[in-house]
Amino acid sequence: MTTPPDHPGGRSFPGGDSYLGRAVVDARLVTPEEVQACLAKLSQLHAAGKPMGLADLLIKAGFITPSQLRRLAHPAEDSMAGAMPQIPGFQLLRKVGAGAMASVFMAKQLSLDRVVAIKILPKRLSEDQDFVARFYKEGRAAAKLNHNNIVQAIDVGEYGGHHYFVMEYVDGWTVYDDLAKKRRYDEAQALDIITQIARALEHAHARGFIHRDVKPKNIMMTKDGVAKLADMGLARQASDAEAATAEKGRAFGTPYYISPEQIRGIADVDFRADIYSLGATFYHMVTGRVPFEGSTPSEIMHKHLREALVPPDHLNPSLSAGLGEVIERAMAKDRQRRYTSTSDLLLDLEAVSHGEAPPQAHVGYDDGLLQNLADGAEEVAVGRGGSVQAQGLPSAAGSGGRSTTLLAILIAESVVILILLIALIIAASN
Ligand SMILES: Nc1ncnc2c1ncn2[C@@H]1O[C@H](COP(=O)(O)OP(=O)(O)OP(=O)(O)O)[C@@H](O)[C@H]1O
Ligand SMILES: [Mg+2]
Repeated sequence: MTTPPDHPGGRSFPGGDSYLGRAVVDARLVTPEEVQACLAKLSQLHAAGKPMGLADLLIKAGFITPSQLRRLAHPAEDSMAGAMPQIPGFQLLRKVGAGAMASVFMAKQLSLDRVVAIKILPKRLSEDQDFVARFYKEGRAAAKLNHNNIVQAIDVGEYGGHHYFVMEYVDGWTVYDDLAKKRRYDEAQALDIITQIARALEHAHARGFIHRDVKPKNIMMTKDGVAKLADMGLARQASDAEAATAEKGRAFGTPYYISPEQIRGIADVDFRADIYSLGATFYHMVTGRVPFEGSTPSEIMHKHLREALVPPDHLNPSLSAGLGEVIERAMAKDRQRRYTSTSDLLLDLEAVSHGEAPPQAHVGYDDGLLQNLADGAEEVAVGRGGSVQAQGLPSAAGSGGRSTTLLAILIAESVVILILLIALIIAASN
């Protein structure tokens, strides 16, 4: 990897571009691949006589904000990076990670003498009264969920202007960490992890919870191979699309797994949004590529809304046909074409893991096709395995009635043909 010299007039970083490249990856703001792409771009710019530094390019391309750069360059200025925060009842042991929104610490809960994880939110979130109200309501409700594949929420609280979320400490790593290292999972391993997370979602969905942010960074793995869904019940700061573009920082904003309806900001986001995001996560795990790439959050979101998915087995031909069908069904742009329940998705995942065809992947398929024929839909692309994905966004209103009528006509026609055939046979035998 060749590193062009810093642009003399631009922003600099202590230690130079290669140090900055490492720092942004360590802080999970940018992936190693994205840093590589930026460095290649810098080489091109340098060769074209327009030298630029990595810091400027990362900011210009929307990967980081100037304040994120400042915090990386001078970590002591970050209030969370200095002395350990003090929270009564807990002894904070060490920082175990940080996302774009918060820092996570390993801590000892003194009353029960057990190790927990505490996510501490920045003070600025305290000013948003709506967010704070939802944070307490959702956090306390989530603490009532109990499932081996969900990171157990324990409590929510506030101290010194910081709101915090206490949860089970998971001694392990995230699926994101694995993807950063090994690019993709083999089919059986990915199926196992996705099945565990689908079980977690089935449990949560049955109790009225929608996660809204299923992604590789929110799937933690233990050394024993148990997958745990993190951040269940953690209120989102803003609407999903706003959250995805907030701060223009990649860590908070990269909407690689967001469902089309969350992008549109519809009010009644339901369990099917989680099914889409789980499908997108599955896609990334087995192909090594996110479903839709783009250089800005809005470009990626546009593709979620409009661009047809490249079938996963086009990127990884060793995948079984059934697995591709499950992902395509889970990631249908129109949520009416996705699985109608998380339990149905689980049935298919279990069938594929036994080497069988997924029985639910095609349920409703004929219905959808008939509706498209009836509506005279212009753009219907028939994908691999016969799955149908509309390029446009057909209205579902009245679909059940129209397709039932068409089905009835088809059945009536078949019955008439059958009667005529029988009559012909009788006439011939006489
Ligand atoms: N319960 C936990 N036990 C142990 N480590 C955890 C736990 N929850 C989170 N972590 C660690 O802290 C890191 C930061 O988590 P956080 O949820 O703040 O951000 P994220 O999900 O990685 O990213 P983003 O902010 O983009 O959503 C995680 O990547 C993980 O390594
Ligand atoms: Mg998280």
